[in-house]
Amino acid sequence: MATCRDTSPASGPGAAAPVGVFDSGIGGLTVVRALRARLPGESIVYFGDTARVPYGTKSAETITRFAGECAGFLLDRGVKLIVVACHSAASVALAELARRLPVPVVGVLEPGARALARATRRNRVAVIGTRATVLAGAYERAVREHSPGIEVLARPAPLFVPLAEEGWVEGEVPELVAHRYLDGFREEGVDALLLGCTHFPLLAGVIAAALGPGVRVVDSAEETAAEVATVLAGRGLAAAASAGRLCCYLSDIPPSFEALAARFLGGPPGEVVRASVGR
Ligand code: DGL
Repeated sequence: MATCRDTSPASGPGAAAPVGVFDSGIGGLTVVRALRARLPGESIVYFGDTARVPYGTKSAETITRFAGECAGFLLDRGVKLIVVACHSAASVALAELARRLPVPVVGVLEPGARALARATRRNRVAVIGTRATVLAGAYERAVREHSPGIEVLARPAPLFVPLAEEGWVEGEVPELVAHRYLDGFREEGVDALLLGCTHFPLLAGVIAAALGPGVRVVDSAEETAAEVATVLAGRGLAAAASAGRLCCYLSDIPPSFEALAARFLGGPPGEVVRASVGR
């Protein structure tokens, strides 16, 4: 299989090793963007399971298997820590991955719960995500563990995923969808809403406008990057380099990849290599 020039499995999981990040597709590049802003010295190996996206419509059993295969792929690339950037995978499989993997695992759940707790004044918050994320009830649990007094209303908003992929992030179509999904929250008195899906930050403007000024829109990417920084520093694994590299492995390279990556990452994706995982 082809590999990126700059990431060697032989490097082993020391401080010089890269951070691994995986997602069901390329939406997780929104987390990579936050990581690069926060930790510019860290090299990142990204795996996007573009051949099998979406995960959010699949069963917990299938998502768990896919997540294990993505993590295994990153371990074979010698990563020192794994970020589960996919909310669907984190909601269903994070605990099992953390138990099973020989490197630290950071998911988007706890950082998201922390960010929500900071944002709310009324202790009534909302989470939107894929069906798999909402069905798993993982955000309710994460918020309850972090701040037991906060009430969470979690609802699926799956149409935002193809809208983000299609680049329809403003205008009447996403606005109409946003109102259908979100108007109820305003009436129910929530004052903070978490974007519980990798794709939703691209629609943050439309979502915030539909919710109105009384509801804060929270993105967990920056909080996730902050947690990665804390874990790396705590374990003596922070890179000494000043400029990390990015390598993107994808299980399929869609024709629109460059344009999509620019949208999610805010810049060019570095080296891109096709790689298959699983059966
Ligand atoms: N990455 C997924 C998530 O954050 C969204 C796309 C999918 O359904 O796979 O839940």
